[in-house]
Amino acid sequence: MPNTLEARVAGALTNIRNPRVDNDVISAGMIQDLTVGDDGRVSFTLLLGREDPATMVREARTAVREVEGVTEVKVKVMEPGGPAGEPQSQAKAQPGSVPPPPQPTELPNLGHILAVSSGKGGVGKSTVASNLAVSLARQGLSVGLMDGDVYGPNIPRMFGVTGQPRVEGQRIIPLEAHGVKLMSLGLMIERDAPAIWRGPIIVKILQQFLRDVDWGQLDYFLVDLPPGTGDAQLSLVQTVQVRGALIITTPQEVAIGDGLRGAKMFEKVNVPVLGIIENMSFFLTPTGERISIFSSGGGQKLADELGVPLLGQIPLQAGMTDLADAGTPIVVGEPESPAAKAIEAIVQEVRKKVGGGKSVKLPIVG
Ligand SMILES: Nc1ncnc2c1ncn2[C@@H]1O[C@H](COP(=O)(O)OP(=O)(O)O)[C@@H](O)[C@H]1O
Ligand SMILES: [Mg+2]
Repeated sequence: MPNTLEARVAGALTNIRNPRVDNDVISAGMIQDLTVGDDGRVSFTLLLGREDPATMVREARTAVREVEGVTEVKVKVMEPGGPAGEPQSQAKAQPGSVPPPPQPTELPNLGHILAVSSGKGGVGKSTVASNLAVSLARQGLSVGLMDGDVYGPNIPRMFGVTGQPRVEGQRIIPLEAHGVKLMSLGLMIERDAPAIWRGPIIVKILQQFLRDVDWGQLDYFLVDLPPGTGDAQLSLVQTVQVRGALIITTPQEVAIGDGLRGAKMFEKVNVPVLGIIENMSFFLTPTGERISIFSSGGGQKLADELGVPLLGQIPLQAGMTDLADAGTPIVVGEPESPAAKAIEAIVQEVRKKVGGGKSVKLPIVG
């Protein structure tokens, strides 16, 4: 389980058991419309059957209230089959608006430059960026991934790489793991020196990463941007011609506003938003049952708002964080898992959008 507030709340709920069905409240499908605000306010609907012990309401409320970061808990109790019990409509990728033709890049060796962005942190941006990169590489493409998150670089850990990159002549040699060439500020700077990487310095560092690292000839170059609309994002889009932006969001409506602001920034600098990727979309029980716990549909709503497609939905999957912490992206560690499958499907969508037929070297591996 990830250590975001959302995940801690979900985790606390999985500790509450319904003795009648001998299952936890999430797996038993009793939780719906879960909303976790940035301010720590949590609300959810508890579907309590006539036979279920009423004490479960207090148990659930107490468990969530005790979660670190939670400031308020509102529980709406309903009987199963009520209005809150309607299943989540399954969003499908829609044909999106056609992005403008790509301008010539200043750095054509980088191939298609894609910015991976999110309005706020903790939505799984780095996880998605890493897995998209590895998935592209596994399809025979040359892929670079730059960790542009100067405030919380974590790509190296997700790839299990530690050493410093070598310098040969005037060129920095990128590290490589799982078939992806990698660079990260986390590889170059001391862990506890982030405060000075501000403004003009960030711009300089990012430009240096783009120009002085020996990336070779790439098909795709993914940049994991810091959340928000700050200096790093602007400097990236001012330095090179970014082919498009992918916006990562969670299904919660409260996250949409952040996503919108992020998307507007790209539009302002003429970078097309290729689509929305919804992460932690639903919870998969160990038996593979798909349960929507967060108030849902945020990805589709954001996509509709922007007139871009929802490229896919990635489930919240137990074990993903442990794998990532061990340096193994889920598409490598558990390629058959629903999350890995969702990511692979998204990669196909992205490749279609980017229209990178010319840069494809190998047929797509099933
Ligand atoms: N679909 C998912 N299922 C389970 N855990 C996830 C999922 N996506 C991300 N995580 C976990 O959530 C946490 C935050 O993800 P991260 O990629 O670091 O977010 P961001 O880069 O947006 O801050 C990490 O611990 C990660 O392993
Ligand atoms: Mg990150």
